[in-house]
Amino acid sequence: MSNKILVIGACGQVGTELVENLQRIHGPSNVIASDIRKPLQEVFSNGPFEQLDVLNKENISAIFIKYKPSIVYHLAALLSATAEAKPKLGWKLNMDGTFNIFDACLEYDVKKIFWPSSIAVFGPTTPPILTPQSTILEPNTVYGITKLAGERYCEYYNARYGLDVRSIRYPGLIGWKSLPGGGTTDYAVDIFHQALKRGSYECFLNKNTTLPMMYMEDAVRATLEITDSPSDKIKIRSSYNISGVSFNPDELAEAIKVHIPKFSITYNPDFRQKIADSWPQSIDDSRARTDWGWQENFNKERLVKTMLDNLTDSSLSRN
Ligand code: SER
Repeated sequence: MSNKILVIGACGQVGTELVENLQRIHGPSNVIASDIRKPLQEVFSNGPFEQLDVLNKENISAIFIKYKPSIVYHLAALLSATAEAKPKLGWKLNMDGTFNIFDACLEYDVKKIFWPSSIAVFGPTTPPILTPQSTILEPNTVYGITKLAGERYCEYYNARYGLDVRSIRYPGLIGWKSLPGGGTTDYAVDIFHQALKRGSYECFLNKNTTLPMMYMEDAVRATLEITDSPSDKIKIRSSYNISGVSFNPDELAEAIKVHIPKFSITYNPDFRQKIADSWPQSIDDSRARTDWGWQENFNKERLVKTMLDNLTDSSLSRN
């Protein structure tokens, strides 16, 4: 069997760091980074890059035939805020893109796929504190609806066709190596850049909006760990709850002030407030812990210090 790994959506927030990690583990030539955009990050220059539009079946077939991947990470999607602005495109990209990639896996005999879900599958009727694995799922954003439908398809393709699907419900992801694109939790990355650049931040969510979050290193490790776990440990074939840390903008600002005492924050909520209000505050991830040994490493304080330390030296914060 081929040892090639295909990452689709490699230029995104998760993809950028996932490719870097996979290249280190498996060797750059075995990791095919692909995206509809051309990469800015020089990290991809180590290994192959292919332009890939998940809505173009011929394009997909050509790449699957060329590389014969054994594992696919399908990360291409519109996130919550962008999908609310362009709901039809959000549906098309997130659903048709997923169908096309799942079907290509069946056609070209790819045995294993990682597909990311999100806390956006939950909605205003979901219990918001320590949200259970199995609970009310009535999302009211187009992004959340596509993630919920995608989860059902993950389980269906596993049960019906034996596709070895691995999936986790990502919380808001915070890292310094890559920028998020179009999510409701993006404030928790932007705040660090603005704190270092201007010493102040205007937040698009209100101060009490508590959301589940995770440091990117934990998120990438969770992605690799669930994908590498023995198949019989993966009992849930829709998507696993995973938890890192929960905080609101006020608490994050206070943690930043420990390092930058003059930092100040103001609040000017926009349409993203409604999206955030529909999501849980904290997540019960006991199934992920029991089934495949999930354990986060970063609490709020460690996350904040790591972000500030790294961004201080990084050109990202100065752009
Ligand atoms: N971080 C994502 C968003 O805000 C949630 O999956 O859209």
